[in-house]
Amino acid sequence: MDKILITGGAGFIGSHVVRKFVSAYPGLQVFNLDMLTYAGNLENLRDVEPAENYQFIKGDITDREFIFNLFADYQFDGVIHLAAESHVDRSIRNPLEFIQTNIIGTVNLMDAARENWHSFSGKRFYHISTDEVYGSLKEGFFIESTPYDPKSPYSASKASSDHFVRAYQNTYGLPIVISNCSNNYGPNQFPEKLIPLMIHNIRNGKELPVYGKGDNIRDWLYVQDHADAIDIIFHKGVNGETYNIGGENEWKNIDLVKLLCKIMDMKLGRKTGSSEKLITFVKDRAGHDFRYAIDASKVSNELGWKPSLQFEEGLEKTVDWYLSNDEWLKNVTSGEYQKYYEDFYSA
Ligand code: NAD
Ligand code: TYD
Repeated sequence: MDKILITGGAGFIGSHVVRKFVSAYPGLQVFNLDMLTYAGNLENLRDVEPAENYQFIKGDITDREFIFNLFADYQFDGVIHLAAESHVDRSIRNPLEFIQTNIIGTVNLMDAARENWHSFSGKRFYHISTDEVYGSLKEGFFIESTPYDPKSPYSASKASSDHFVRAYQNTYGLPIVISNCSNNYGPNQFPEKLIPLMIHNIRNGKELPVYGKGDNIRDWLYVQDHADAIDIIFHKGVNGETYNIGGENEWKNIDLVKLLCKIMDMKLGRKTGSSEKLITFVKDRAGHDFRYAIDASKVSNELGWKPSLQFEEGLEKTVDWYLSNDEWLKNVTSGEYQKYYEDFYSA
């Protein structure tokens, strides 16, 4: 394979995947297609920009003509598709945007691949998806054969795109692979998501808005571990297969927020317990999924992937990154995000 297209490479997870592929595979030309929505930021990739095997392309996956021309011009051999609208709360406010980007954008990419891949030999379309497609757990774990039961507009859009990806293999023989991952955290995550939002608010002495009673549970994975899994699955995964990726690291939201308060108090030289006082229980998210938890034994047993970081180590690295990247945080929290935050959290 000579040329790979990574979509959404200026976003949180995408930027870590781009960095990994550019540095690990100097013989591979890596093209990063991103429309730079509020969530995409070229600051995430400044260190990668000088690399000879890297090129950024600004563009919209919902623009079918543009996507078809792009595939015709560049003749990519493989696609790792991450571009998406990714935030559940935004999907509750504006589902249509999620249908456009996550479903129609995915179909456009696969149609362009079909049109240009005259032989499917050596080609691969890899869809990066979420464990949220499986719905909400009371007990047990999500495995690859867990029936889909998406419950938010975001997860419904990702479930739909997963179905399209499988349908394209079944109908047209497109060589595909899918992975469904649990919640990621780490450097470069947009501060609308739980962990960076709490870090930002603790830093600034602002209220820490915990939905409901904070009893909901998520399984957290460090973003570089996800990027490693994507690398392994892209190169060694079997066509048509699905792989679940997770951290075996379940936390109740309230316990996680308290742990972050403790780490931040220590890092900022504040009195122990002072940040916890900022915790405020707010109105619950509509249709809030109770628990997500992944059984990652397939990717571990068949492809040899395992998470490398302990959670507290990963959280400390994350906090350190945000504390030493003030400018990044200031840039992304001004403008559109400021308006969203005030509107959303005052409702
Ligand atoms: P993100 O919101 O940080 O980044 C998404 C990127 O896609 C941004 O750079 C944005 O500019 C780009 N984008 C959006 N619409 C586009 C369009 N129409 N055309 C081109 N580019 C567009 O998202 P993320 O958290 O990095 O997630 C990346 C992928 O991983 C998504 O597909 C998401 O569903 C999946 N995922 C995320 C998590 C998580 O915890 N964040 C977990 C599992 C799976
Ligand atoms: P989030 O980071 O939005 O990821 P997802 O909803 O995709 O799992 O939220 C993680 C958990 O944190 C989820 O249970 C909702 C909760 N949450 C809050 O309690 N307060 C907040 O301000 C946010 C953004 C999330």
